[in-house]
Amino acid sequence: MGEGFKLPVLNGLGKTNRIDNWWSQPLIMGIGLTITLIYTFWRLFIYDLDISYHLNGNTVVSPLFSPNILEWELFNLNEWAKTAPNWINAAILIIWIPFGFRGTCYYMRRVYYRSFFASPAACWVDEPQINKSLGYKGEKMLFIINNLHRYFLYAAIIILLIKWWDVTHTMHFNDGFGISIGTLVMAFEAFLLTMYVTSCHALRHLAGGVLDRWVSGISKLRGEMFRKISIINRSHGFWFWSSLIFVFLGDLWVLAVNKGYLSDVAIFVI
Ligand code: FES
Repeated sequence: MGEGFKLPVLNGLGKTNRIDNWWSQPLIMGIGLTITLIYTFWRLFIYDLDISYHLNGNTVVSPLFSPNILEWELFNLNEWAKTAPNWINAAILIIWIPFGFRGTCYYMRRVYYRSFFASPAACWVDEPQINKSLGYKGEKMLFIINNLHRYFLYAAIIILLIKWWDVTHTMHFNDGFGISIGTLVMAFEAFLLTMYVTSCHALRHLAGGVLDRWVSGISKLRGEMFRKISIINRSHGFWFWSSLIFVFLGDLWVLAVNKGYLSDVAIFVI
């Protein structure tokens, strides 16, 4: 069945028999990714001020610049920061981890292959002639880096733990322990990132892959983890976008407080 039947039926970039708005999702996602790339470039290389603020002794750091390793005493990083070139900031030193993790994410690959390379543009939709001339080579050459996803996952888990640690820094006020709006912003960002990381396909494989059966002992436990991760893995795309968008909303919040457009307040202190 289907022998000799070649897809797509119509030839030429974007040509298709589909009658739905197949182009809207790749277009919107492509615009979204482009905006995030431009904004990140602006914040990292053009305007890297106002990356954190203090409210009555606590510290709230922009998600884009968290963890702010240039303030760490560990390895004398804070001392090194004083003599480092002006263009160095915490985000520039750390960005390769979230960038590598998201850039090699299985879901993200689907997005940018479609939005930026039209390879494929969508199911049943023809792709540009250049793709056909080059031919499909799988994830080789430049894209061979995608095979490093599981290693970026390990690094992302470390970053995630430090982000939760940063959340605790928003809770230490001069007169006690409490929660401010900044705490909620940073905690919500850390929560979304937690969901994104824990719904990762590579993490799911790490939990329950390779084994033939999950019957007893450790294998049973791994099977249980695999099933749990599988549930949130179904919404991996949602966690990808929500966690990404909130990095920038959190950064805008920190910028707005620094500029005086918005004010942080302590919700309670005990
Ligand atoms: Fe998307 Fe691992 S597959 S983060």
